[in-house]
Amino acid sequence: MAPNAAERQNCHVRHETQVELIKNLLSHLDAGTNVDAGEIFVNNTSTYTDPEQAEREWNEWFVGLPQLIGMSGDLPQVGSFFTNNEYGIPILATRDQSGCFRAFVNSCRHRGAIVESEPRGQKRRFTCPFHSWTYDTEGALVGLPKAEHFGDVDNECLGLRELPSEERHGLLFVHPDPEGQIDLDWLLGAWFNEEFSTWGFEDLERLTADEYDTACNWKLAMDTFGETYHFNSLHSNTLANSFHGNVQCYDEDGHLHRMILCKRAIDEMRHLPEDEWDITVAGLPVYWLFPNVILMPFEIGVFLVRALPDRNDPGRHTSKVDFYIRQAKLGQAQENLGTANLTEIAKEIASTFSRIIRDEDYAMSCSQQACANGSALEQTVFGRNEPALHHYHKTYRRMLGYADSIPPTSSQAG
Ligand code: FES
Ligand SMILES: [Fe+2]
Repeated sequence: MAPNAAERQNCHVRHETQVELIKNLLSHLDAGTNVDAGEIFVNNTSTYTDPEQAEREWNEWFVGLPQLIGMSGDLPQVGSFFTNNEYGIPILATRDQSGCFRAFVNSCRHRGAIVESEPRGQKRRFTCPFHSWTYDTEGALVGLPKAEHFGDVDNECLGLRELPSEERHGLLFVHPDPEGQIDLDWLLGAWFNEEFSTWGFEDLERLTADEYDTACNWKLAMDTFGETYHFNSLHSNTLANSFHGNVQCYDEDGHLHRMILCKRAIDEMRHLPEDEWDITVAGLPVYWLFPNVILMPFEIGVFLVRALPDRNDPGRHTSKVDFYIRQAKLGQAQENLGTANLTEIAKEIASTFSRIIRDEDYAMSCSQQACANGSALEQTVFGRNEPALHHYHKTYRRMLGYADSIPPTSSQAG
């Protein structure tokens, strides 16, 4: 039976898995070791610049697969809606009158104007600004001015065009192709379907949202989330204060992987009985959803990062960094702490984290892109301690029908 909201509050990953992961982190810390991919991986820098590859990625992975466009907290009530223009067609997402998540092509069935222009809100009706055709939250055409003058149309057939959509584990998926199929058993696999069911993502509320148009390929943005080898260098004055660099857990299964970053607070576990160990205190789980989503759940909420390609330039992308909060958890802490405004503190934490991504990680991604654009190097290399980077790029290559590994060029080998 699925856990109820109260049970979910303190339940993340199954407890025995949490203990196993924390023990793994502690043993790396104590032994001065890290995960080991067993070998290095050579990568072609053209993967960040090649317009033909970028076109295939767009068609096969962005328009051709279901996309995560938000979380249940983006549609908190009946009539909640948001719009999305990330996948080439305008999308209107709604919570309909029966509480179901629906998605539509946000284009009027009269002459194709955008029906809803607001980014988000709550409405019972969506009225096209051109001639005021009006649709409900189920997409049905419910109003047509001067119907007697317009002529003989069947309102039943002129509802907004519906897109395949599915809400699972508090995540909202849409297929940008009306004829597409959503297969979350494949996309999330048995592993994430089981693990996500324990996190209670459905109880999260949206708190902050940042958007960064960045001069680097979307895969370079993903790469920055794939290792902690850089923490003691790039983040020496920021994240390294609360995380151990170059220590992590890493697991993969097919196109899925999950890392656990190691927080300095892991030392608290050494003084607690194992049944009180908590993975969100000891570490930061980082889930990758193919191709472009990073999901990082922590004590009071979740960071969701989505890297969206620029269709006109493989060397640019937009990152959406959204933060969702677990109000029940915040409420508990608020009771204990009294007057401090925890929502404001949580917003500050979220924007600090988001700024680190922009100002530190993506600054590096842009410098890598500038070098790749100039063909400064044909190849670069991922270390044995960066297995998630191997996995991103092997998975991308497999999905494009290429061999996993790349032979080194003579300059790389030499
Ligand atoms: S185009 Fe929408 S009402 Fe005419
Ligand atoms: Fe980083």
